[in-house]
Amino acid sequence: MFPETRLRRLRQSAGIRKMLDAPLPGPEKFIWPAFVIEGAAKREPIESMPGQSRLSVDQLLIDLEPVVESGVGGLLLFGLVEDSEKDHAGTAAYNDKGAVQCAIREVKDKFPELVVAADVCVCAYTDHGHCGPLTESGVVDNDAANETLAKIATSYAAAGADIVAPSSMMDGQVQAIRAALDTNAFDQTLLMSYSTKFASAMYGPFREAEKSMPGKGDRKGYQASYGDLRTALRESEFDEAEGADMLMVKPSLFYLDVLAKVRETTDLPLAAYNVSGEYSMLHATAERGWGDLKGMVQESTAALVRSGADILISYWANQYNALFRD
Ligand code: PBG
Ligand code: ZN
Repeated sequence: MFPETRLRRLRQSAGIRKMLDAPLPGPEKFIWPAFVIEGAAKREPIESMPGQSRLSVDQLLIDLEPVVESGVGGLLLFGLVEDSEKDHAGTAAYNDKGAVQCAIREVKDKFPELVVAADVCVCAYTDHGHCGPLTESGVVDNDAANETLAKIATSYAAAGADIVAPSSMMDGQVQAIRAALDTNAFDQTLLMSYSTKFASAMYGPFREAEKSMPGKGDRKGYQASYGDLRTALRESEFDEAEGADMLMVKPSLFYLDVLAKVRETTDLPLAAYNVSGEYSMLHATAERGWGDLKGMVQESTAALVRSGADILISYWANQYNALFRD
């Protein structure tokens, strides 16, 4: 105790601080989420997410060059289709010639070492914007959704994805997808479940990017409630039991306690999804001159690692050198 012990001794120089501090995560821990559209030479900046755009596959390949060069470990693909291709069940999501399937093939061809993941959901492909087809009473039909999700995951695996990542929060989606993959001889395709995914107000910029805002209602009937922690934790437990290879907590900065709790109770790799609203929040603060972007990004990312994240799904990933190196 003071005055014999002085904790400031442990912080007195940059050299000592560097020796004691946990290092910032290396680029290999990061997965960059990117939005792909059909066509060529297309680049549509997303207003609410500075530094992120919807890209046609040729443009994605161009943007990936420096990202791969910086050492970033992975890519998580989200697709979009024209409104005319959307239908009740989101069948365009398993089109073998869809933007995501093409992107998987071309990215794996050009950057074979990069880990390629693809989001398995239908909200960007349904005409009503929900994460599965609706019953007559207007709720998402869980088991019918699972059949579509299994087809989507299989089409991604066939295109060469390393990881399929179901995000629709249907009961049994992990089991349905694993069974479909194994039946089709994709037993090496990894399944990273968005296992504890909350109904969050932090997905706004993403839904602008993906044009996937539900036409009516919200996603509270299927995404976890932040008020009910125990059920949210069971979501991850169930997904582990159903055969998920990796778990996820999403959003992440508002859920560090959940990240730490899931970390304590599983030995599976755990991903934190640092979502769009969390990205835009820091950008908006920096833009107003109310905070230093690099400082805020490093501090918040360190919190995710401290709380137990092994893998960081983060829009900062395509700016790794600028934000995480001196
Ligand atoms: C689709 C999906 C969403 C996100 C990832 N997959 C949006 C949603 O559930 O409404 C959010 C990602 C982000 O905000 O960065 N199921
Ligand atoms: Zn969805």
